[in-house]
Amino acid sequence: MSSPITDGARLRRAASSFPAAAPASARPVTAPRFIQHKKEALWFYRFISIGYDRVFNPEQYTEDMRDDALEPAGLLYSRHLKVVDVGGGTGFTTLGIVKHVDPENITLLDQSPDQLQKARQKEALKEVTIMEGDAEDLPFPTDSFDRYVSAGSIEYWPDPQRGIKEAYRVLRSGGVACVIGPVYPTFWLSRFFADMWMLFPKEEEYIEWFQKAGFKDVELKRIGPKWYRGVRRHGLIIGCSVTGVKRASGDSPLKLGPKAEDVSNPVNPIIFFFRFLVGTICAAYYVLVPIYMWIKDQIVPNGMPI
Ligand SMILES: C[S@@+](CC[C@H](N)C(=O)[O-])C[C@H]1O[C@@H](n2cnc3c(N)ncnc32)[C@H](O)[C@@H]1O
Repeated sequence: MSSPITDGARLRRAASSFPAAAPASARPVTAPRFIQHKKEALWFYRFISIGYDRVFNPEQYTEDMRDDALEPAGLLYSRHLKVVDVGGGTGFTTLGIVKHVDPENITLLDQSPDQLQKARQKEALKEVTIMEGDAEDLPFPTDSFDRYVSAGSIEYWPDPQRGIKEAYRVLRSGGVACVIGPVYPTFWLSRFFADMWMLFPKEEEYIEWFQKAGFKDVELKRIGPKWYRGVRRHGLIIGCSVTGVKRASGDSPLKLGPKAEDVSNPVNPIIFFFRFLVGTICAAYYVLVPIYMWIKDQIVPNGMPI
């Protein structure tokens, strides 16, 4: 069954066709987004990594979706491209990259040692460089890579604009950044749980972050599981792939202050435990949503909206 949401060619939109974006800073600060923090995300993946490849990821992010999302990154250009996969986790997206690029040219970086341990066990990733690091402070020189990929990680970054500025910095002139991530729900209950859990950006926010970082030719392609039949009101954990091209060598023209968060900074253990617990409970809603949508897809006749 083909779905309108996977028809990327039709749905891909250039940044100029988006409505005038509300500034990203206009996103309400009242949303707690309990796990959109480095230490909380680190602990979250201590537990999630146990069932990540078998349970949580396949529910939200299929191989078809991954290949669809990676298509605008232009990986087919050459097997010799130098690629970094940031927030690469257990290497699910990296497995999509090694189909097109020699593994010894790929670097997988993540802040979670638990996730990286799973990546190291994968035969196809044996020659990939796998390392710990922070998406907002990449341990690479300026102008290092031909492609920057990050899938399903931006939602945990306390300062996504900083992460995208880093993407710009580490790319070579003409290099392409491809950020794959969630989209914001419109249905009130889904919006409530999304805002309690982590960052579900709006499409225009992605565009604005890319443009502010200095990227040109910014495009957004919608993706999603087939059984959603194009529905986006519950939001999607993997809902779009945003790409941009680095204009010129050197750092991003955007200037930012010091990093807001560092995992090595001490935190109040009671506040931390509360944030972690409530955030994790709210994340459970998004385990149920795909099951609900899958059942609806089975019941509602083809061609009808769900
Ligand atoms: C949903 S997983 C996605 C993993 C992988 N990209 C994939 O396609 O399956 C999100 C990953 O982002 C990582 N992450 C979260 N915040 C990060 C940060 N600030 N720097 C690096 N990695 C981060 C988490 O540890 C986790 O492995």
